[in-house]
Amino acid sequence: MGNINHTQNNEHAVINEYANLASQYDKHWAFYINATLQETLKRLDIKPTDTVLDIGCGTGALLRSISIKYPSVNLIGIDLSKEMIKVACNKQIKTCNLVTGNAQHLPFRSKSFDIVVSCNAFHYLRKPEACLLEIARVLKPQGRIVITDWCDDYIVCRICDLFLRMFNRAHFKMYGLSACERLLRGTGYRNVRVERYKINWLWGLMTAKAQVNHY
Ligand SMILES: C[S@@+](CC[C@H](N)C(=O)[O-])C[C@H]1O[C@@H](n2cnc3c(N)ncnc32)[C@H](O)[C@@H]1O
Repeated sequence: MGNINHTQNNEHAVINEYANLASQYDKHWAFYINATLQETLKRLDIKPTDTVLDIGCGTGALLRSISIKYPSVNLIGIDLSKEMIKVACNKQIKTCNLVTGNAQHLPFRSKSFDIVVSCNAFHYLRKPEACLLEIARVLKPQGRIVITDWCDDYIVCRICDLFLRMFNRAHFKMYGLSACERLLRGTGYRNVRVERYKINWLWGLMTAKAQVNHY
C-alpha cells in the first residue's frame, strides 16, 4: 500500500511539474532537447516500414524529427502529461498518434512495435523494471529498445541527481552505465550496449540499445 501511494505521489508530482512547464518547455530547453534528440536519432537505425513508440514523448520533438527523416514510419507517442501531449498534438506530426498514459502500464497490444525509444524520461520512473518489462511485452520479436537519459557516472550529473532527489518530488533516480546495463539484462534484454557522452560542459548522457528476448 505504501508503495502504491509513493508511486501515485510521484506520478502526481510529474503531472503537476509538466502541467506548469508544457507551454514553455520547447523554448526553455531548446538546446538540450535538440542535442539529446540528435544523439538518439543517430542511434535509432529505423527502417521505412517500422512502427515506433516514443515513451515519455513530451512535446513530440523526437517524433517530429523521425517523421521528417522517415516519412513512412508509423509513430506513436505516450506521455503522462496531457499538457505536454497537447503541445505535441499542435505540431501535427504526420503518421503519428499521441496518447496520454503511463509508461509502467502501456495501453498497447503485445508485439506491436519494431522500436521503442525513450528520451530524457527514465529518471522519472519509480518502477523502471516494470516499464522495461512492459516495453518487452509490446516489442515484436527482434524488436529493439533505445533509451537516452542522464548518466550519473558524470560528477556534475551525480550532484544534480542528489539535489533533485532532495528537492524535486517528480524526480526519482539517475543511473550510471553499469546500472543501466544491469537493469536491461535483468529484465531479459540481450545485445545490450550503452554509450555515454557529453553534450556540453554540464550534461553527461548515455544511450542504451538492446534487443528484446522473445522465444
Ligand atoms: C524531460 S521530459 C522529456 C520529453 C521528451 N522526451 C524530450 O526529450 O523532450 C520527461 C517527460 O517524461 C514524462 N513522464 C514522466 N514519467 C512518465 C511516466 N511514468 N509515463 C509516461 N511519461 C512519463 C513527463 O510527463 C515528461 O513529458
